[in-house]
Amino acid sequence: MTLARENRLMPVDIHYIVRQMRDSDIEAVVSLESEIFPDAWPAESFRESMDVSDGGGLIVESKNGPARKLLAYACYYSAAGETHVTNLAVAPDYRRRGIANKILASLNEKAKTSLSDAIFLEVRASNGPAIKLYESRGFQELYRRKNYYHDPREDAVVFVLEFSSTAKHRGGAKSVNTSISQRAEKP
Ligand SMILES: CC(C)(COP(=O)(O)OP(=O)(O)OC[C@H]1O[C@@H](n2cnc3c(N)ncnc32)[C@H](O)[C@@H]1OP(=O)(O)O)[C@@H](O)C(=O)NCCC(=O)NCCS
Repeated sequence: MTLARENRLMPVDIHYIVRQMRDSDIEAVVSLESEIFPDAWPAESFRESMDVSDGGGLIVESKNGPARKLLAYACYYSAAGETHVTNLAVAPDYRRRGIANKILASLNEKAKTSLSDAIFLEVRASNGPAIKLYESRGFQELYRRKNYYHDPREDAVVFVLEFSSTAKHRGGAKSVNTSISQRAEKP
């Protein structure tokens, strides 16, 4: 896949692939994660995500030349008709080029393959770029978890993308445990 986007911070042609995360990716993923998030996941959290039977991680890596570079990653799992996105980040130099959009499209496919009715995720209320991203993909705010995050204390906004009208207004939706929260990036 080739991306050539105008009106972005830097004009760029990126050849990239989206694939499943493997054990051998974890070192690079943890390094990017700790560059982005103050409360970075340790390697063990990524390993646990990859051990979930109906879940795992996605990697976006560049294919320019022989060297491959990690551009983005996401973690997810599906259970009881719901897919939960537990982590998602794009390397700072590669943002606003549609990479997160591409990951969310891949996560949509994963969710549908798992016969999920909906995708859930949560985000800090102040994370404008992520909220814009999710809204642009059709996610809707479901509810807020008051003071859910610490350092700084902040509400979590729970978003849902429902695939069918039968999934709407399900009693379970509000009680769903989005156990691993998505975070704010480092200042
Ligand atoms: C949020 C994040 C994942 C977006 O990744 P990205 O690859 O830059 O997003 P995309 O280029 O696919 O953007 C898709 C759409 O999202 C919205 N969007 C993304 N970043 C935005 C920003 N900084 N400001 C406004 N809108 C933004 C836009 O609608 C954009 O479409 P457009 O570029 O055609 O206007 C990235 O900024 C990031 O990794 N942030 C730090 C980690 C994080 O916050 N993760 C999410 C935790 S919930």
